[in-house]
Amino acid sequence: MVLVIDFGGQYNQLIARRVRESGVYCEIVSYKHSLEAIKAKNPKGIIFTGGPNSAYLEDSPTIDPEIYTWGVPVLGICYGSQLMMHMLGGHVCVAPEREYGKTVVDLDTTSPMFAGLSEKNVCWMSHNDYIETAAPGFKIVASTPNCPVAAAEDAARKLYCVQFHPEVLHTENGTKMLSNFVYNVCGCAGTWKMDSFVEQTVAELKERIGDGKVLCALSGGVDSSVCAAMLAKAIGKQLTCVFVDHGLLRKNEREEVCAVFGEGGQFDINFICVDARERFYSKLAGVTAPEGKRKIIGEEFIRVFEEEAKKIGAVDYLAQGTIYPDVVESGLGGESATIKSHHNVGGLPDFVDFKEIVEPLRDLFKDEVRQSGRELGLPENLVARQPFPGPGLAIRIIGDVTPEKVAIVQDADAIYREEVDKLPMSERPSQYFAALTNMRSVGVMGDERTYDYAIALRAVTTTDFMTAEVTMLPPATITTAANRIVNEVKHINRVLFDYTTKPPATIEFE
Ligand code: XMP
Repeated sequence: MVLVIDFGGQYNQLIARRVRESGVYCEIVSYKHSLEAIKAKNPKGIIFTGGPNSAYLEDSPTIDPEIYTWGVPVLGICYGSQLMMHMLGGHVCVAPEREYGKTVVDLDTTSPMFAGLSEKNVCWMSHNDYIETAAPGFKIVASTPNCPVAAAEDAARKLYCVQFHPEVLHTENGTKMLSNFVYNVCGCAGTWKMDSFVEQTVAELKERIGDGKVLCALSGGVDSSVCAAMLAKAIGKQLTCVFVDHGLLRKNEREEVCAVFGEGGQFDINFICVDARERFYSKLAGVTAPEGKRKIIGEEFIRVFEEEAKKIGAVDYLAQGTIYPDVVESGLGGESATIKSHHNVGGLPDFVDFKEIVEPLRDLFKDEVRQSGRELGLPENLVARQPFPGPGLAIRIIGDVTPEKVAIVQDADAIYREEVDKLPMSERPSQYFAALTNMRSVGVMGDERTYDYAIALRAVTTTDFMTAEVTMLPPATITTAANRIVNEVKHINRVLFDYTTKPPATIEFE
C-alpha cells in the first residue's frame, strides 16, 4: 500500500487514482496525521501532494521530519517537493518566472523515476514558488530553463521530488513516472485489482459493523446501488435498504431495482420498496414553479424515509453512497478548497436514529465505483447508468406534474435512450434524456388534426457537469428516435432537439 499525504492540492485524488491504476492500493490521509498513525498503516511508499501554501512560511502545513529517516521511500509533488527541500536544507522562494501549463522538461533518464522515458518530456507545471537550490545530498534529475530543480533525488535516503504534476493527464508519461516510483523505488508488485478493493472493503465493513444494524437509502443510481451491494455482501440481513418510488423515476426503474435488491434478487437483505407515487402526485398537483417542485419533493422524500426509519427503529449506522467528487464539491475534500455545494435529495438528515455514518465509496471516482459494481455482480444496466437527479422527472416536465405527463416523458425517454445506446460507448453523451415541454402545437396524423405536446431531446458532453457542450449525435440517431417517439408515444406530435450549451442553459430543464 502507498499512502498519499494530503497538503491541500486539488489533484490529490488523482494521485491515488494513478497509483491504483498501476495495480497498487493507495489511500489518502491528511498531513495532520501523526507519524505513528502513518506508520501504523504500514505503507511501502509515501507521496506528498501539492498545495496552495508556501513551504517557507511559518504557518504552512508541515510534517514530522522523522518521516525522512524512517526508511520508507517518499515522493514529493509540487508543494510536497518544496516542503521536502525546505525541511532538508534546500532553498525555496518565489520563482522569478512563475510557470503554469505544459512545459518541456529535460529528464535524467538514469533516475529510477524516469526509467524508460525520453530525455525531453512535456510536463504540467503550476507553481509560484520554486526550488532555487536542492537540499544537500540531492542530485538534480530534471530541469527547465525557468526551474533549475524540476526533479531531484537522494537515492540513498530514498527521497524523490518533482516540481511538476505527474498525476494530471497533461504530463506525458505521468502515470509511468508514478508507476516507476511505486515499482522501482517502493518495490510494490502491482498485483492489486479493483476486486481487491471490494474484498478489502467488504472485510473492513464486516469488522467495523460487527452485529450492528445498517440503514441505507437506495435511489437506484449507481452510487447508492454499489454501496448497498457492498454492504449486502458484508453483512447480509443486518442491512435494510429503503427505496422510495416517488412516481418520478425512469421507465421500468422501480422494477429493475426491485429485481436486483428485492425478494428473489441477488442479495439476502431486508428491502423495503415504498410506493409513494400518489403522495408525491397529490403534493405536486398544480405546482408549476421549478423551485416549488424541488422543495416539495425534497421534503416529501425525507418524510417518507422518516416514516420507514421509524418503523425500523434505532439503527447503528446510516449508509450513504457518497463518492469522491461529492466530497470535493461539498468542500469536504480533505485539505482542498470548496468548489460547489452538492445538491441531492438523498442528502439525509438528522432525524434518523443512528450512531454513525458509513460511506464505503468515499475515496472512489465514478468509473471506479462502476468497476466495483461490476466486481460485485451488479447488472450492466444498473452499473452503467447515467446520472439522474433526485427530483427525477419532475424537473424534466416543464410546468405542473401529472401522472399522465410522467408516463409520456418516461416512454419518450426510454425510446431515445434505446436509440442512443446503439452507439458505441465512446460516442455516447455524458447525459441524454427527453423532457416534456409545456408547449402544445398543431400537427396532423392520418387525416386528423392534432393538438399535442412537443418533447425535447437533450444530449450533452461534460466531465464535471458544471459546464457542458452539446453532443452532435449522428442525424440518423435523432431522426429514428424522433420518428419512433411520435409513432409510439401518444400525445406527442413534435420532437425538438435542444442545442444549448451550459451555460447559459442548465442541463436539466428546471
Ligand atoms: P444542472 O441542471 O444543474 O445539472 O445543469 C447538473 C447535473 O446535476 C444533476 N442534477 C441533480 N442531481 N439532485 C441531484 O441529485 C438535484 O436536485 C439535481 N439537479 C440537477 C443533473 O442531472 C446534472 O447531471
